[in-house]
Amino acid sequence: MLTIMKGPYLQWPTENSITIMWETSEPASSTVNVLMAERIHSGYQGNYKKPEQVLVTVDEKEYSTIHQLTVNHLEPNTLYFYQVRSVNERGEIESGYHYLKTAVRRGESFSFTVTSETGGYSGFDKSEGQINRNIFSQMQRYRPDITLFIGDIVNDGNNYEDWEKYFFGPGKEFLTNTPFYSCLGNHEDNASWYYDFFAYDSPKNYYSFDYGDTHFICLDSTDFIERETYPNSSGKMAPGNEQFDFFVRDLKSTSAKWKIVYFHYPPFVSGGYQVEDLQELSPLMEQYGVDLVINSHTIVYERSHPICNGKVDFEKGIVYIVAGGAGAMPDWFLPKRSWHTAQSLAVPHFLNVVMTTNSLELHALDEHGRLFDKFCLYKESTGKRIHL
Ligand SMILES: [Fe+2]
Repeated sequence: MLTIMKGPYLQWPTENSITIMWETSEPASSTVNVLMAERIHSGYQGNYKKPEQVLVTVDEKEYSTIHQLTVNHLEPNTLYFYQVRSVNERGEIESGYHYLKTAVRRGESFSFTVTSETGGYSGFDKSEGQINRNIFSQMQRYRPDITLFIGDIVNDGNNYEDWEKYFFGPGKEFLTNTPFYSCLGNHEDNASWYYDFFAYDSPKNYYSFDYGDTHFICLDSTDFIERETYPNSSGKMAPGNEQFDFFVRDLKSTSAKWKIVYFHYPPFVSGGYQVEDLQELSPLMEQYGVDLVINSHTIVYERSHPICNGKVDFEKGIVYIVAGGAGAMPDWFLPKRSWHTAQSLAVPHFLNVVMTTNSLELHALDEHGRLFDKFCLYKESTGKRIHL
């Protein structure tokens, strides 16, 4: 029988388009209908009419099991409903109605959530996945526009079942309505499933995108760090390395007001697995005005003081967040904090970040939604940052 195995889920939203993906149990052709979301102005606020008016239909006649359709000609910062359908000779299956929202324009506020380690922590997790489910349902409560995963979302990226068990399964509801971006952690092992399931710009293991006034850059730190376990690693953070050249080019060319970089290994953490080689990227990020770096791998939460040139610097420094996400490993911390540590705690968590043209407000919340850290950065029109 034809069934939907994963999704539908949302990828790569722009102001006028979005990509919808899902997986079926057998090869089938695919269709997406995008429908007008019409607000009911009486009764409970926020209610929408059952959608009726189909605005756009996109078809793919060619059979596949992983379906990827892009819907164009949408309005910016607008809510729609969508429904997917797959058909083959043996049957037909359609999803329910889910909602999607296109990207905001420059000058408009938005929010995003962040977590990681839904699979990387699995070897230590005694909750049988309850922590993952809690974190996904908490993130849903915050209704973010987009969400980031900083790697290790599966335990073994080459194991097909892991993608459902640790990521698409617990995240099912959240991922139907929240476009997500992920980066490669060591547990993904650069597996082909990462490339099959996600619709990022080529080469996919690193990419960048704009959302509102923020430019996001995703790097593949497993490619930068030479290890025996990464036989394809270029292992070189210097001109001539394709990823490094992309990073420099991208930082130089963006005119976005805010710049956020994320990659898996943490250059700064007062715990195990600090990958100091990655501090070699810091001068470049300082030069081009990166505001925030988000990492994972060490399964704790840690926020650094603003750092520039190896020192605390509230004027020019970059704040590094380790969002170890769905796990908590207190004994991975050093006995005492480091010079760069501002706040840290080993609890399962996620981040909720709200961006406006002039501000970045970051909350760190535990798996039950309790706030345990926050920080706010204000940026004047001159580009000068003020830490609140
Ligand atoms: Fe990791």
